[in-house]
Amino acid sequence: MAGKEALVRANRAKNDEFYTQLVDIEAELRHYRDQFRGKVVFCNCDDPFESNFFKFFAMNFNHLGLKKLITTSYAGSPITGQQLSLLDVKVLPKAAREKPAYRIEITEVPDANNDGAIDLSDVEYLLKNERNVLTPLAGDGDFRSAECIALLEEADIVVTNPPFSLFREYTAGLVEHGKQFLILGNQNAITYSEIFKLIKENRLWLGYDNGGEKWFRVPNDYDHTTTGARIKVEDGVRYLSMGNVAWFTNLDTTKRHDTITLYKQYSPEEYSRYDNYDAIEVGRYTDIPYDFDGAMGVPITFLDKYNPDQFEILGWTRGRNEFEAWPTKRYMNARQIKPDGTESSGGKVNTGPTLLLARRPAKGTVYVADGVDGFLMQTYMRIIVRNRTPGRVPA
Ligand SMILES: C[S@@+](CC[C@H](N)C(=O)[O-])C[C@H]1O[C@@H](n2cnc3c(N)ncnc32)[C@H](O)[C@@H]1O
Repeated sequence: MAGKEALVRANRAKNDEFYTQLVDIEAELRHYRDQFRGKVVFCNCDDPFESNFFKFFAMNFNHLGLKKLITTSYAGSPITGQQLSLLDVKVLPKAAREKPAYRIEITEVPDANNDGAIDLSDVEYLLKNERNVLTPLAGDGDFRSAECIALLEEADIVVTNPPFSLFREYTAGLVEHGKQFLILGNQNAITYSEIFKLIKENRLWLGYDNGGEKWFRVPNDYDHTTTGARIKVEDGVRYLSMGNVAWFTNLDTTKRHDTITLYKQYSPEEYSRYDNYDAIEVGRYTDIPYDFDGAMGVPITFLDKYNPDQFEILGWTRGRNEFEAWPTKRYMNARQIKPDGTESSGGKVNTGPTLLLARRPAKGTVYVADGVDGFLMQTYMRIIVRNRTPGRVPA
């Protein structure tokens, strides 16, 4: 591998090292309690000594009525066993000390200290004393390795925060093996074709606690300059904030059965039609007209409220013939005009939805093109949806 490529990879691997806080796991998981009873849960990007997913499921093992908890660590992690240990297991079991990857399997969490409750000390006791709980893996614990796939086969539900840099491949594997899952990812993953396709086909949706600022524990040398995120240090521990993470799941949620209340009436004056898509522009999901029987372009944030019984997703506005939504025209010899009047090639105009304006607006970048009588303004990427029961008068 060339030096530069190796460095890029190493940096990407390092930037995958951010650890979810218990409070965020609890806030999401509390909504799915009934769906975990009798299930085998697998956390396959989770060193138990570093991961709060392990801690959460181990501490709630009895409460959730789990059948089994499996977690696997990854030897490729640049910080394995070095910095972030959450558990007070000062002398790590031999297998963990030698830094290969290992797996932990738990089928019961007894009340070891007889205090009437299961807490962290019972989990720590289990790790220190139960010889069969922790076993080394033959390989490095890569979620794609044969032994981890075998564990995946055994699992009912996979829950974790996987490496963002491998999110596409990671999710594809879960779907391919027919698993239920609840995983954290970057909201931008919605715009990956593979993920959007699953959303459109109703095989994946968003969980509850999406967006908003979340803080993740990071190693001391975490390079936040490439992610633009903020860093804070508390009690000597570094945290990174991200405002764009979301839960992706195929576990049922009550949320996706909630109907969005629509109160606006359609009028052609209020809702512009795109020049290059057979749809109207709706800049905020709350402005979706209840009586419009046709295609509408809505922002990605709509997916956080999406109820598949209320709306059908037709596609998106990427300027390509994809799904059931495609551009009705292609602009030729397009030119881009910046607000300061500078002009350049305008091929970008064919990559999104446009609104045709008679006059050049005071603000914003516009495009001109052959045969276009006016100025084209591109909106953000939109998802094209259709109301399944238009015209239903709001309650
Ligand atoms: C975003 S971190 C989250 C860690 C943990 N799941 C949590 O939420 O606290 C992703 C983890 O996946 C690990 N990882 C990276 N590539 C992996 C692979 N191919 N197989 C398994 N784990 C991997 C990284 O080392 C890192 O610890």
